[in-house]
Amino acid sequence: MTTERSPIITPSAQQSRLLRDTLGHFATGVTVITTRDAEGQPAGMTANSFNSVSLDPALVLWSIDKQSLGYEAFTTREHFAVHVLRADQQHVSNLFAGRGVDKFGQIHWSEGPNGIPRLDECAAYFHCRRAQCIEGGDHTILLGEVLEFSTNGGEPLVFHRGRYRALAGE
Ligand SMILES: Cc1cc2nc3c(=O)[nH]c(=O)nc-3n(C[C@H](O)[C@H](O)[C@H](O)COP(=O)(O)O)c2cc1C
Repeated sequence: MTTERSPIITPSAQQSRLLRDTLGHFATGVTVITTRDAEGQPAGMTANSFNSVSLDPALVLWSIDKQSLGYEAFTTREHFAVHVLRADQQHVSNLFAGRGVDKFGQIHWSEGPNGIPRLDECAAYFHCRRAQCIEGGDHTILLGEVLEFSTNGGEPLVFHRGRYRALAGE
């Protein structure tokens, strides 16, 4: 198959939309990450920056926008929980990508270890202790040590070029 090659572009403020679109070619899964804020209220957001880092010790990472309402909670609270979404959970991804909405009133969840909200439904779950906050431009990279994990299996939700997708067949 032949594809047309775009010109080489250097990152700049003018090209940030193009950079974002080009980064969007990297297909990812979708997670909802939860914690509690300083008042003890549940906080959570959709994130596709989640990735594995190390098996021994067990480390994962994700990055959070410094403008997000949950920024203070995630960079202050010692623990967070990562929920890998299933293909039939697009609505959960959209809910947790919203701002100023009651996210936890609309889904089933319970209190997990260290009081961190745990969603009842997901493909995989990782309970983490925040190991490090790493400066990352307009985001902060959160490195987490996995303390507990479990999986329910199921088809994953996939995000690619700004759209939800299904996995191609075997
Ligand atoms: C598929 C998808 C992936 C996202 N990934 C991230 C991410 O990795 N980091 C981030 O800071 N925001 C990410 N967002 C945006 C946040 O979910 C969104 O800004 C949300 O409103 C943040 O919630 P808050 O402002 O209530 O904390 C993503 C949104 C979508 C739809």
